[in-house]
Amino acid sequence: MNEHILVVDYGSQVTQLIARRIREIGVYTEVESNDISEKTLQEHINKGLKGIILSGSFASAHEEDLKLKLPPSIFQLGIPILGICYGMQAMAMELGGMVNSLENREFGYTEVINCGNSQLLGDLSDFTEDNQRILKVWMSHADTVTILPKGFDKISYSKTTSSIAGMENTDRKLYALQFHPEVTHTAKGSEILKRFVINICGCNLKWNMPDYVDKSIEEIKSLVGKDKVILGLSGGVDSSVAAILIHKAIKDQLTCIFVDNGLMRLEELNQVKKMFSNNMKMNIIYVDSSKTFIDKLAGITDPEAKRKIIGNEFIDIFQKEANKIKDVRWLAQGTIYPDIIESSHGKKVIKSHHNVGGLPEKMSLKLLEPLKHLFKDEVRRLGKELGLDDEMLFRHPFPGPGLGVRIIGEVKSEFLKLLKKADNIFIEELKNNINKETNKCWYDSISQAFAVFLPIKSVGVMGDNRTYEYVIALRAIKTNDFMTADWFHLPFDLLSKISSRIINEVHGINRVVYDISNKPPATVEWE
Ligand code: XMP
Repeated sequence: MNEHILVVDYGSQVTQLIARRIREIGVYTEVESNDISEKTLQEHINKGLKGIILSGSFASAHEEDLKLKLPPSIFQLGIPILGICYGMQAMAMELGGMVNSLENREFGYTEVINCGNSQLLGDLSDFTEDNQRILKVWMSHADTVTILPKGFDKISYSKTTSSIAGMENTDRKLYALQFHPEVTHTAKGSEILKRFVINICGCNLKWNMPDYVDKSIEEIKSLVGKDKVILGLSGGVDSSVAAILIHKAIKDQLTCIFVDNGLMRLEELNQVKKMFSNNMKMNIIYVDSSKTFIDKLAGITDPEAKRKIIGNEFIDIFQKEANKIKDVRWLAQGTIYPDIIESSHGKKVIKSHHNVGGLPEKMSLKLLEPLKHLFKDEVRRLGKELGLDDEMLFRHPFPGPGLGVRIIGEVKSEFLKLLKKADNIFIEELKNNINKETNKCWYDSISQAFAVFLPIKSVGVMGDNRTYEYVIALRAIKTNDFMTADWFHLPFDLLSKISSRIINEVHGINRVVYDISNKPPATVEWE
């Protein structure tokens, strides 16, 4: 890591977006929690820190017990700092200004006036009105800066409440915005961030994928030397991209282990075999453990218990296989940056999302995580650079415990067979039918779609006969970050076609329902 921007996270839901936007501009960015130690901050400075951004927060800068810590002596560093939302208020309070509650809170779309001639906003505007430059922005705040700290100028204010929407002190290179430039609703958001990182911090556009590939291959080679590496391949984007990258660097020193838990989608195993063993000629050990998993899950209905069994069983099997390979020193994982940020910044756990979690503690191997600084969209760009096809790269996410959490209650082989077929029909139809608005297939317009097996029977009629069979629920959602999600409004005629196909082709299902719940309060998966 050389020249870079540091985002200090105060717990806002959109902190990661700040880092992603800046990387999209072409500047490398890292996120650290607000309790970053002096030592870590110093490491960043030594490695070429060019600017700092203080994120938004759920906290309050003017209520003593809700205040969050600022990194030590941050305003004395002489490095440019941009405070966003809470970050602006924390900066104001720290430097002798004042923050108070707003009478009318501002949430969502807002118009602010750009006072003009500031370093941060220049003469940016989305439109002008009465000779004033107006910016369309996204706000989310109940507090506001009421008195500017000494040496600061007001650079923007809200058209509706007149509250201060931006301030700067160019002598001290301190800048702040009450609105969120990182969300796409702020029309000129990326331009504002670009002005900060390029014009003010003086960063160069050095962050791009081809360079990253070359650099990581060199890094992996020098880290691993002649050692052997193992990797748990799941067929998902992250582990696949990690495997290809590492394979490019160290060839046959890498062995992948693919544990078939029987909880994968129809044809998934064959796709993996074709892609990695046949096309890419990687060393892969396939372990058929489907029976073991089903046996272990017999009689278990509690979702968390099922997740734990599947996770632990995977670890046991993986470990046994790994022990058979001599002289392994490294365990490679497809950990990506959001995993690191979320686990280190203490977010609350609703479901235990474990894929290979737990492995590093159990195995005394060194960890190789070549994607640990990348966001998902960057992993996809990297995958493309490495020659992975779009079908693989743009696949909807699939949970670690697989279909185990898409069969409600006890997992049985009989249920798995029905679910795999139904799910395959659903996905096939989403791929084969075009969304005329976007001219893409429905699958590409949806963030995630899948079928869920409900182990309840209902009465139906087929021909002249009464049926008493199981139910399939279909779930399709649209989301940016999977933290919140909206159910996807699929056309009724397409739903009708899918339902008919499932009922006609999957013997044992006589009813199909469509899930129309958002997250929150529902979650994406049913378990
Ligand atoms: P939830 O159900 O928590 O899902 O709203 C959000 C996203 O996470 C995926 N998911 C998992 N992914 N291991 C994973 O890698 C897991 O254990 C797991 N559980 C849920 C889910 O499919 C959705 O994309």
